[in-house]
Amino acid sequence: MRVLITGGAGYIGSHTVLEVLAAGHDAVIADDFSNARPAVVDRLEELAGRPIEVHRIDVTDEAATDTLFADGRFDAVIHFAGFKAVGESVAEPLNYYRNNLDSALTVLRAMDAHGVRRFVFSSSATVYGENPVLERTEDMPTSATNPYGWTKVMIEQMLRDLAVADDTWRIAVLRYFNPVGAHRSGRIGEDPSGLPNNLMPFVAQVAVGRRERLSVFGDDYDTVDGTGVRDYIHVDDLASGHVAALERLGEITEPWSVWNLGSGEPVSVLQLVNAFSRASGRPIPYDVVARRPGDLPAYWADPSKANAELGWRATRTVDDMCADTWRWQSQNPDGYPA
Ligand code: WQD
Repeated sequence: MRVLITGGAGYIGSHTVLEVLAAGHDAVIADDFSNARPAVVDRLEELAGRPIEVHRIDVTDEAATDTLFADGRFDAVIHFAGFKAVGESVAEPLNYYRNNLDSALTVLRAMDAHGVRRFVFSSSATVYGENPVLERTEDMPTSATNPYGWTKVMIEQMLRDLAVADDTWRIAVLRYFNPVGAHRSGRIGEDPSGLPNNLMPFVAQVAVGRRERLSVFGDDYDTVDGTGVRDYIHVDDLASGHVAALERLGEITEPWSVWNLGSGEPVSVLQLVNAFSRASGRPIPYDVVARRPGDLPAYWADPSKANAELGWRATRTVDDMCADTWRWQSQNPDGYPA
């Protein structure tokens, strides 16, 4: 298949490009590089051992996106393009609704116009909102507690309505838990701009000496050690889950499907910090501070639906995730070159 990967120069997108190519498909990147460095493409071509077609495009631009599809001859789309910082979305809701909803709508309308019906959507476990059942299953109701989360809930609904209107679509909604790690080569990885919002990149930057200390957001939760518990999944397991979903869409008749992509293993903040210290051989100094507003104490995936229906499961351990992250961070202490 010839697969368009929007946001393909981003963290999860770039790892997915390699997996799509490794599975024998053709991968084409569309990215506006608002949250990705051009150097990522050089690294991908180095790792893939072949040139990769890249379109520098804002997929909220209808004319440009329609032209891309008119010429593209795409068989499928994996849609990552979008803003994804929870805190930023609270401060800038209009930017988030416009960018995330417009990019999804523009891509879907271009697909519709050009007869492309296979669509994999990058959703998030954040759509489960608060639920007393900590192990999340796909049949749970969706809601959000921030505009970023609401954009994911809303796009999932748009996709359900599209599938009802036209059952020739084959749509896979993939709900990620906490993506971490890096390609085993150490040549690509997570490179957040500015202060990392997420735990793993912050820990990695402390280990490599870019940050002084980690702030642990609360240790008084009702969890194994009082710190927040999440389901961390290696980005390459996540990438292979996208290929499995993409290929599954060619075998099923349901126009809309949803799968959790998680490891199913609950891990606390301190368990991750200790694993990273073991993997890097570096101390990770930290201070316990106040809880972060909006954080849930604990949740993780029940990945059994994806395991059964996609023939996919996460294989990398937390130690693998930390070792691969450390290789990337220690070889690229300042991330990608400008
Ligand atoms: C993990 C745990 C924090 C940073 C978010 C989004 C989600 C998805 C993944 C996009 C929590 C604790 C964190 C720090 C800490 N993003 N923590 N100190 O909040 O589970 O999920 O990122 O799709 O939509 O909500 O990830 O890595 O920010 O936090 O103690 O400096 O680490 O309290 O318990 P989160 P996270």
